[in-house]
Amino acid sequence: MIRVGIIGCGAIGTEICVAIDRNSYDGRDLGLDMRLFFVIDRNEDKIKRLCERLSNPPAVRRCGSNAKEVGFDDIVEEVDLVIECASQHAVREFVIPALEFGKDVMILSVGALADENMLRRVEHVARKNRCRVYIPSGAIAGIDGLKSAAVSRIYEVRLTTRKPPESFADNKYVRERGIDIKEPTVLFEGSAIDAVRYFPENVNVAAALSIAGIGTRKTHVTIIADPSVRENMHEINISGSFGKMCIKIENIPSPINPKTSYLAAMSAIATLKTISNPINVGT
Ligand SMILES: NC(=O)c1ccc[n+]([C@@H]2O[C@H](COP(=O)([O-])OP(=O)(O)OC[C@H]3O[C@@H](n4cnc5c(N)ncnc54)[C@H](O)[C@@H]3O)[C@@H](O)[C@H]2O)c1
Repeated sequence: MIRVGIIGCGAIGTEICVAIDRNSYDGRDLGLDMRLFFVIDRNEDKIKRLCERLSNPPAVRRCGSNAKEVGFDDIVEEVDLVIECASQHAVREFVIPALEFGKDVMILSVGALADENMLRRVEHVARKNRCRVYIPSGAIAGIDGLKSAAVSRIYEVRLTTRKPPESFADNKYVRERGIDIKEPTVLFEGSAIDAVRYFPENVNVAAALSIAGIGTRKTHVTIIADPSVRENMHEINISGSFGKMCIKIENIPSPINPKTSYLAAMSAIATLKTISNPINVGT
């Protein structure tokens, strides 16, 4: 039995907790041997709403946004796996302490690891304490092929993201440049490191690709606002000594949080299966 602690009771956290609680998803058996031990969120209401959906809600429910506020040291000892599905801030607050206690960690807000110092720190502490850090593929596909390709030479990784203009409504970079989007418009072209800086909406996808492949400086990103699309679309082109691959994803938004792709929650649940099941297919 793997005892689990959850940080973040929003769209992804809710799907994960329901999956663990029922040991099934969408009517399909998951074969998980897991139990929820704690949930944490900075919003009391989110905790309450999540727990109402569970047959066996966790006994420990803490409201707060950092390790000290929630008394993390006392509760983390009781679990085997900590799942962060909250925010980049939560990664910085909770992940290192969990690893310091020797706990395995799953990180959904992978954008926090676009910061090379943070990535190195997580790796160092995980190695020192012999912990695993799981980073689900999230909203994209192709991480398996990219990881295989990265064993040898990769010449190029290109990500082209196409989203409806509303997705960029709050974006400072677009606002400051007065970009008016009436037709498909290229908003940005450059390295993943700059894409992450100017387009936090894209941070998770760019970071996951960079970590699996050739890093944030060499991964090339194009961001397009397109009034004719409804879904978030990602096209990934990779070339290397293996040959070439092209992956295209058209994501349906999560019913709970339209900013999050439904596939992201599913990828977290699939990672739980990977942790639980003796047979793991895919790189
Ligand atoms: N890897 C991917 O491809 C991918 C895809 C989608 C979302 N994400 C990321 O996963 C995370 C969760 O996404 P979501 O759609 O469930 O978000 P959400 O907004 O629906 O839920 C996040 C929850 O975490 C809580 N929270 C945030 N920071 C916190 C903190 N420091 N301490 C305690 N609680 C905190 C919020 O109150 C909220 O209830 C986000 O960071 C998002 O960017 C990753």
